[in-house]
Amino acid sequence: MVKINENYLKLPGSYLFSEVARRIAAYTAAHPQARITKLSIGDVTRPLVPAVIEAMHRAVDEMGTAEGFHGYGPEQGYPFLREAIARHDYAARGMDVKPEEIFVSDGAKSDCGNIGDIFGADNTVAVCDPVYPVYVDTNAMAGRAGDYVEELGKWNKLIYMPCVEANGFSPEPPSEKADLIYLCFPNNPTGATATREQLKVWVDYANANGSVILYDSAYEAFITRPDVPHSIFEIEGARTCAIEFRSFSKTAGFTGNRCAYTVVPMELERGGAKLNSLWNRRQTTKFNGVPYIVQRGAEAVYTPQGRAQIMENIAYYQRNAQVIREGLTAAGLECFGGVDAPYIWLKTPNGMGSWEFFDLVLDQANVATTPGAGFGPSGEGYIRLTAFGDAGDTVQAVDRIREMLRRG
Ligand code: MLT
Repeated sequence: MVKINENYLKLPGSYLFSEVARRIAAYTAAHPQARITKLSIGDVTRPLVPAVIEAMHRAVDEMGTAEGFHGYGPEQGYPFLREAIARHDYAARGMDVKPEEIFVSDGAKSDCGNIGDIFGADNTVAVCDPVYPVYVDTNAMAGRAGDYVEELGKWNKLIYMPCVEANGFSPEPPSEKADLIYLCFPNNPTGATATREQLKVWVDYANANGSVILYDSAYEAFITRPDVPHSIFEIEGARTCAIEFRSFSKTAGFTGNRCAYTVVPMELERGGAKLNSLWNRRQTTKFNGVPYIVQRGAEAVYTPQGRAQIMENIAYYQRNAQVIREGLTAAGLECFGGVDAPYIWLKTPNGMGSWEFFDLVLDQANVATTPGAGFGPSGEGYIRLTAFGDAGDTVQAVDRIREMLRRG
C-alpha cells in the first residue's frame, strides 16, 4: 500500500487565502445584493503596462516564425533577463550580483516553498510571527515543523519570533539556534521594514551559526524612504549566508503572468556544497523555465519606458495605502505599515478578535480583509488590508469602514 506524506495530514484546515476566499464566497452567496470590496489577498488590479504588452506581442510574433521560435529555454532563465536583473536591480544599487547567481522562476511563492528541497529535514526553522503562511506550511509539509498545537496556533518544532508593536514588528535573533531563518522586508503582513543595522545583526548571526537567511524582498519596489534597504545583499557579509527572493508580481503586475527570481550567491556554501549548485540541480530537474514570452515582458520592465510606467502603477497603489492608513487613523484606529509596503496592519478596536473583526467588517462595511490571526498567534487582534485595489473602491471601502465605526 502506498504511503502518503503524513505531514499533509497535520496541516490545519486550508491555506489562509483559500479560507478567506471561501468565507467571502459564503457571505456573497447568502447576501447576493452585497457589493464586496476585496482588500484581502494581495493581488494587483492595474493592467500590465504598455512596454510589457508591446514586448510580449513582439515575442508572440517571433514565436510564430521558424527563426524566432523558442522551445525549452534555459531552466535558469534567458541570459537577456538575468543580465537585466543583475544590472538594474543590483549593480545600479551598488551590489555585485552576477547573472549566474540569478534563477528566474514562476513565482516567489513557489521558490520560497521549493527552496526547502535543498535543505535537510532536521534543520531548525525560525519564522516571524505573524508570517506569510507559505514559509510555515511548506516546512510543515517537509516535516521540519513537527506537530501543530491547536491551542497555541503553532507548530511545536518551529521557532516563532514575535513581531509586535514593542519591537517595531522586526524580530531579533532567537535564543535557540536557528538553521533556516525566513525574513521578509518590507514585511507581509505587517508592512514593517528593517534597518540596515537590524539586518546586519541577522547576517552576523547567520554567519556565526552556519545558518541561512531566506530573504523575501518581493515588496522592495514599494519602499519610499531612502534609508530603507531594498536587498539583503546591501548588507556586508550577506553573500555567505543569504538567499533572496524577488518577484515581478507586485512590482510589475505579473500575478497572472508569473515571473520572479531567486538569487543564490556563489560564495554561499553549507555542508561542503555550493547552494547555487544545489538550487541549479533542483531547478534543472524539476522546472522547465518561464515562458519566453513572459521573460521578454519582464525584460521590458527594465527599459526606461517600462520603468516609468510601472512606477506610475506603484505610485497608484502607494496612494491607496495612504488613503487607507490616513482614513482609518483619522477614524481612531491604529494602523501600521503602508508607508514602504502595500499592506496596512490594523489593530482591531476594543481588543476584538481578528476573525470577529473580519466578519464584522465584511458584514457591516462589505469590505473583505485578511484576519491577522491567520498569519500566526501574534497576528491576533489585527487585520491586514491591501493597497492593491481600485482607487475609487479603496476610497469607498475606507468610507464604509468609517461609517461602520460611527454607527458603533
Ligand atoms: C498575500 O496576499 O499575502 C499575497 O498576495 C500572497 C502571495 O503573494 O502569494
